[in-house]
Amino acid sequence: MKNYDSEKHVKGESQFVDDLLTPMGLLHIIVFASSVAHGKILKVDYSEALKSNGVAGIITAKDIPGENQIGGIIQDESLLAEEYVHFIGQPIALVVADTILHAKDACAKIKIEFEKLPVITDPREAFKKGELIMPPRVFACGDVENTWKQCDYVIEGIAESGGQEHLYLETQGAFAYPLETGGIKIISSTQGPTQVQRASAKVLGLPMNKVEVDVTRIGGGFGGKEDQATTWGCVAALAAWKLNKPVKVILSRQDDMRMTGKRHPYSSDFKIGLSKEGKILAYQVTFYQNAGASADLSPAVLDRTMFHAVNSYYVPNVKATAISCKTNLPPNTAFRGFGGPQGMFVMEAALYKAAEAMGMEYRKLQELNLMKEGDEFYYGQTIENSTIQKCWQETISKYDVDSIQKRVNEFNKKNKLFKKGFSLMPVCFGISFTNTFMNQASALVHVYSDGSISVSTGAIEMGQGVNMKIRQTVASVFSVNIDRVKMESTNTTRAANTSPTAASAGADMNGKAAEIASHNILERLIKVAAEKLNVKETSLIEFRDETIYLSGKAELTWFQLVQVAFLSRTNLSSQAQYAVPGIHFDRTINKGKPFAYYAIGSAVIEVTLDCLRGIFEFDSVKVVHDYGKSFSFVVDRGQTEGAIVQGLGWMTIEEIIYNKEGKLLTDALSTYKVPDIHFTPKEIEIEFLETIENVAGIKGSKAIGEPPLMYGIGAFFAILNAMKAFNPDKEYKLSAPITPERVLCELYSENVLVSV
Ligand code: MTE
Ligand code: HPA
Ligand code: MOS
Repeated sequence: MKNYDSEKHVKGESQFVDDLLTPMGLLHIIVFASSVAHGKILKVDYSEALKSNGVAGIITAKDIPGENQIGGIIQDESLLAEEYVHFIGQPIALVVADTILHAKDACAKIKIEFEKLPVITDPREAFKKGELIMPPRVFACGDVENTWKQCDYVIEGIAESGGQEHLYLETQGAFAYPLETGGIKIISSTQGPTQVQRASAKVLGLPMNKVEVDVTRIGGGFGGKEDQATTWGCVAALAAWKLNKPVKVILSRQDDMRMTGKRHPYSSDFKIGLSKEGKILAYQVTFYQNAGASADLSPAVLDRTMFHAVNSYYVPNVKATAISCKTNLPPNTAFRGFGGPQGMFVMEAALYKAAEAMGMEYRKLQELNLMKEGDEFYYGQTIENSTIQKCWQETISKYDVDSIQKRVNEFNKKNKLFKKGFSLMPVCFGISFTNTFMNQASALVHVYSDGSISVSTGAIEMGQGVNMKIRQTVASVFSVNIDRVKMESTNTTRAANTSPTAASAGADMNGKAAEIASHNILERLIKVAAEKLNVKETSLIEFRDETIYLSGKAELTWFQLVQVAFLSRTNLSSQAQYAVPGIHFDRTINKGKPFAYYAIGSAVIEVTLDCLRGIFEFDSVKVVHDYGKSFSFVVDRGQTEGAIVQGLGWMTIEEIIYNKEGKLLTDALSTYKVPDIHFTPKEIEIEFLETIENVAGIKGSKAIGEPPLMYGIGAFFAILNAMKAFNPDKEYKLSAPITPERVLCELYSENVLVSV
């Protein structure tokens, strides 16, 4: 079962927003954006630009018929800047022309004057100056203050992790055109069509039923189009509305990198207390999240950081403080893992430091503190059917970690300038949106009179294979060949009030909705079959391989039954909603059961470091992962491999650099290094742990989109271990990404003499 888009992708036949056939008279937008990170707009002169060739209009905040407000969680983000600008790349005006080149020419003719204001790029500086997105939040359990004195070891430190560019292959964009009904239709590259619909309706001052959003697929999102596609959807809608013409906006790669937010960088303080045996007794952590200039999804991202602050470990006393800091950078946003990786990284850093201080092995300390069945997370959820221990043990035995250790030690004894290191990484990632209300999805299924089936859901196909999973689910309800089932585009007129496809829950939730809708139709078909075959006992009727059996005897084909049903005027369509049961979270006390279940696994990562050049190669990543009952090995393996490589990139080579003026220096692929085939580990081995059927997942499976990214965190500590083998006496910074440049600076910062 492969992703059925693959072939079209390879042939270049798949259509993305910029590939759609467009009507005559299509106009193009170039966004005029702020060139200062913080300032007051004193004067803008559009006169030359307006006279420029092919210009149809220049649209500013004054042209907005509704509200100039697109903030999702907090209403703090205008679509187009009015008096003040808060980051470089913030949209100020839309230059609309007959061609992109004409729009670009005109854009260059706009004259603007700013009064520059102080720029903050560092979250701790923002905190000191009181620049916060929202008041700090605290999640706690037990009593850390009174536990420190019972600890044999108390270790403190700072851990930092960097941002990450999404680098979806299809850049942000949208195409919009006015409808005869006085409404507007938007084709958007978004993970959240409802979000685009809601914001555009607000900006245009229209009811939501006059805004239709349609998405066939997107060329990757990775979280970057959960909230931030909304801006471009609104931009296209506003211009189309204002000029009464079809309008398209497609960001160039460089504009996309400059104007959109990324994974949140974090700077965190930790303090961890342990018994002499190595049990964690208390953990205190303060997260300074670099949110950028407005809230976007930062509060929700920070929530998930808090939920994953202890990763897979049992900690009886915890105090976690979350501070979302407002800086003059593009608003940072969702990115695969959604704050979880940032939280887990600090925990691992704390354990690593503790192991050093105690003279214990890091992996022994990890093992000693892993959650056991029935243990409770500090926010109140108990872990049931936990495979944390099982995955860990299986990783150690299957991949023979003891012999890896031996081999690494021997290699390091023999080699002076090359050193090997390895590290284990457990992952336990909660599945469900942390905002409980978002855990709902809907589907609309039609069986046509020729037996073919059409399925619409709220899910967005972004390469993760969700459409294939839903198709397979529907095909199995009706026992028909998967080729009969067609996934329709995701459209707000067919699936309303949807959550974005995110939180790795897209297949679970939309798949369940499609399953319910299909079952509704199946029940009607069973009744029709019973009538046709003159039986009362419907349990004697069985659907198998496009055939309807009565007491084991083939009686009707699928096509014949559908014909009978249609002629007897049976409803062959059904809409269904699915709401994840049993989850709740009380935000007044920060306790509850926020997750339907956990995605769990362990990995061991081995690296070889060239200590003369600072460069490294990943020898292998070996994983034992609990997929529940995976019903799509190919898709799940692809997701696992992709997420691992993305996690390795985040930890090691992907470095986002803004200068003090808030200008992005790494705004092209020549300065921002992403994983390529040479970077990819020589070996990625994955064991699908045989576990029980996961009733909360689609067809017994478990969500897979994000969790394996966090195995990448192990790479950081594998490299540290290799560095320690080279120079054991140094204290290394817990600061990611640990780029080759950083490795060199750290290894040689104190004139280390190397004798070859
Ligand atoms: N895989 C591909 N190929 N492209 C993507 O953009 N996004 C990831 C993951 N896998 C992504 C991907 C993210 S951030 C999430 S939340 C999930 O897919 C969303 O899809 P799902 O809920 O269907 O797993
Ligand atoms: N994950 C991903 N996206 C989200 C979440 C979440 O937990 N909450 C809100 N948006
Ligand atoms: Mo994924 S970061 O939840 O879109």
